[in-house]
Amino acid sequence: MQDLKGKTAFITGGASGIGLAMAEAMGREGMNVMLADIEADALQSAVELLRSKQVRAEGVVADVTSRNSLRSAALETIAKFGKVHVVCNNAGVGAGGPIGQVAERDWDWVIDVNLKGVVYGVEVFTPLIESHGEGGHFINTASMAGMVSPPGMEPYCATKFAVVAMSEGWAVQLAPKNIGVSILCPGFVQTRIHESRRNRPAAYGEDQAGGPDISGATEAVTNGIPVEPVANRVIEAIRDNDLYVFTHSEFKPAVEMRFNRILEAFDKSAASPALAVLGSRTGVGLGLPQ
Ligand SMILES: NC(=O)c1ccc[n+]([C@@H]2O[C@H](COP(=O)([O-])OP(=O)(O)OC[C@H]3O[C@@H](n4cnc5c(N)ncnc54)[C@H](O)[C@@H]3O)[C@@H](O)[C@H]2O)c1
Repeated sequence: MQDLKGKTAFITGGASGIGLAMAEAMGREGMNVMLADIEADALQSAVELLRSKQVRAEGVVADVTSRNSLRSAALETIAKFGKVHVVCNNAGVGAGGPIGQVAERDWDWVIDVNLKGVVYGVEVFTPLIESHGEGGHFINTASMAGMVSPPGMEPYCATKFAVVAMSEGWAVQLAPKNIGVSILCPGFVQTRIHESRRNRPAAYGEDQAGGPDISGATEAVTNGIPVEPVANRVIEAIRDNDLYVFTHSEFKPAVEMRFNRILEAFDKSAASPALAVLGSRTGVGLGLPQ
């Protein structure tokens, strides 16, 4: 999408951090912005902040773990702005810990918000974007944790790897409909992600004394990069229809190391006596674009 002026963006997790920064950046481009968030007070303040900067902004309380909640928020956006063009599936929460110490309800919570929230966002908005024929773009917020898996972050990484995987497939499916897909993979960014439990709904059971120790994550996030460059990079990515969007070049070696290990494992298998009986095979196609 080249021309953003006058178009409308819908941003989940828009009341804070990266979501709010994307809203500001999109507002600067002349876009209308609908913020959707579970935290009503923060949402109200965020809308006021945007309006004070002459952004045409509205807010809607929505819970991305509910398809119905997102559907209502989408309809409200259309009632306010007529159409939606850009959807940032950005709401996310963090939880992790040593093996056996992550509460089952925390697994559910992280999966529901970070993974299913993105599924609902894409499924609810795809027909709405398609219907106006002007094209659109999804920005699905994954993370560096969608590329590499540091120990102790398994629930979070599982969901972010899933966002990467789903978005790669959706990008191919949506391209013929003139809808782009970008996967935002930041490293540490100064937001309130380390305080995610502030929005852990009661439906996920009692919070167990704040969950496992995340002081390491707190330090990394508070020393992370500011949100504004991340949001500005997203604007570039929409215009260039970039699939992968990275903001922390210092993590490239970690990704390279993982990919190299995977390729080395293929080489080892190619030389494996156990598999030699299979001979050389061309295999069936995976349906991936070349
Ligand atoms: N901050 C980082 O270091 C970092 C790094 C990589 C990826 N991310 C990702 O960036 C995204 C944005 O997070 P952030 O860092 O700005 O954190 P943040 O906590 O500042 O913002 C997250 C927002 O999501 C909202 N939210 C939480 N649960 C919700 C729900 N069920 N429904 C709707 N909204 C909900 C929160 O109220 C909050 O406004 C997340 O997906 C996160 O995983 C963050």
